Amino acid sequence: MYVCNCNGIREREVRAAIAAGARRPADVFRSRACSPKCAKCVCDMRGMIAESKEALRYAAE
Ligand code: FES
Repeated sequence: MYVCNCNGIREREVRAAIAAGARRPADVFRSRACSPKCAKCVCDMRGMIAESKEALRYAAE
């Protein structure tokens, strides 16, 4: 599934960027060597980053 239609960034690519250390949508764009265009995907990316942080927090408990 595509998260960012403008840049053709798939969900698995966003998750890979997060696993590699992306902590903001800008980091995800940088990892794909592109930049936001319409920015409709930024909220979804933020949600995925927040989910990841939450999962790490529970894993650390
Ligand atoms: S959908 Fe990602 S910049 Fe437009």
